[in-house]
Amino acid sequence: MHSSSAGTSCSPSAGSTTCRPARSSPSSRLITVGPGAGQPRPVCRARLAAVNAVQYPRLVVTGAAGQLGRALIAAAPAAGAGEVLALGRADLDITDPAAAAALLRRGDVVINCAAYTAVDRAETEAAAAFAVNGTGPAVLATACAEIGADLIHVSTDYVFDGTGTAPYEPSDPTGPTSVYGRSKLAGEQAVLALAPAAVVVRTAWVYTGDQRDFVATMRRLEGERDTVTVVDDQIGSPTYAPDLAAGLLELAARLPGRAHPIPPILHATNGGSASWYELARAVFTELGADPGRVRPCTSDEYPSPVRRPAYSVLSPRAWSAAGLTPLRDWRAAVHAAVLAARPGARAGHDG
Ligand SMILES: NC(=O)c1ccc[n+]([C@@H]2O[C@H](COP(=O)([O-])OP(=O)(O)OC[C@H]3O[C@@H](n4cnc5c(N)ncnc54)[C@H](OP(=O)(O)O)[C@@H]3O)[C@@H](O)[C@H]2O)c1
Repeated sequence: MHSSSAGTSCSPSAGSTTCRPARSSPSSRLITVGPGAGQPRPVCRARLAAVNAVQYPRLVVTGAAGQLGRALIAAAPAAGAGEVLALGRADLDITDPAAAAALLRRGDVVINCAAYTAVDRAETEAAAAFAVNGTGPAVLATACAEIGADLIHVSTDYVFDGTGTAPYEPSDPTGPTSVYGRSKLAGEQAVLALAPAAVVVRTAWVYTGDQRDFVATMRRLEGERDTVTVVDDQIGSPTYAPDLAAGLLELAARLPGRAHPIPPILHATNGGSASWYELARAVFTELGADPGRVRPCTSDEYPSPVRRPAYSVLSPRAWSAAGLTPLRDWRAAVHAAVLAARPGARAGHDG
């Protein structure tokens, strides 16, 4: 479920707050550090600590000002990335073919985090959603294929219809029920058609815990409300953005040369599954608060323009089979996120 920089829609009612996950407001623009040598446009170019710079290609992160993009930039040094080109929307609009071709170079590994992620708003802004989520990945895939760069494209559990009862495998039939899901599926299909060596990585329910995502909102509401009411009939895979970032960086390091084949579609989430209600209770527990203050409700009690998948747990089997490190269990990740978000916590603490 998509709840990152936008977080959770909440309707305060009589001392309690009813919540469901939602997406809305845009994240802030990445600070432009300055033009890189030979670059035709201003870019935020960070040369980060090179632990393993010889083997690691240049990493290019698009959508770098978003929730996942920021986590990737933060995690890159520890992963051994030698040079990182962090491209916010102002640096590279991924729907601009000329700009993409001008910024990328042979041997790059591009991780595309740019997306239109306002799930509800997409229902009335289909053209905008398809431009960023369908055309944008097609533009990047074309540029990567022509230039000789590797591409990791991040996608979503929303490509599934949510009627499943067992974790979705990458090869399971898709059937998005929302404009957002259809636009993301269009992006996946374009990427794999235009850049056959690209890897699509689907994830779900991403949070950092310190912005306006679901976990951050629960942290805030714990201090503001006696009770919060949260939907209990949507089951998914909560995913801590730094954990996902570490996984994507491990995958990125594997792509050049590819000693072992990597499947075209992988799923990467924290382990296990939860409802939004269970995730909220876990946050309260980690805060030392009474989880009984979180009350369950059904999706029907919280009208939405979008029918969200009732069940969208993503199977990690293909990820593990590819030799990639499984992401830890979602409860351990929530523990780390709440700890890291505490005032005074060092960045990355216990992450
Ligand atoms: N968040 C979740 O729960 C979740 C779940 C499953 C999958 N995903 C996927 O994970 C990826 C990262 O999501 P996120 O949570 O990091 O989303 P996010 O916080 O909304 O970040 C997306 C970024 O893309 C930028 N962007 C939008 N249009 C662009 C364009 N045309 N060119 C370049 N950049 C553009 C946005 O800039 P503006 O803010 O200026 O528009 C924003 O900084 C996406 O592919 C998303 O579909 C997310």
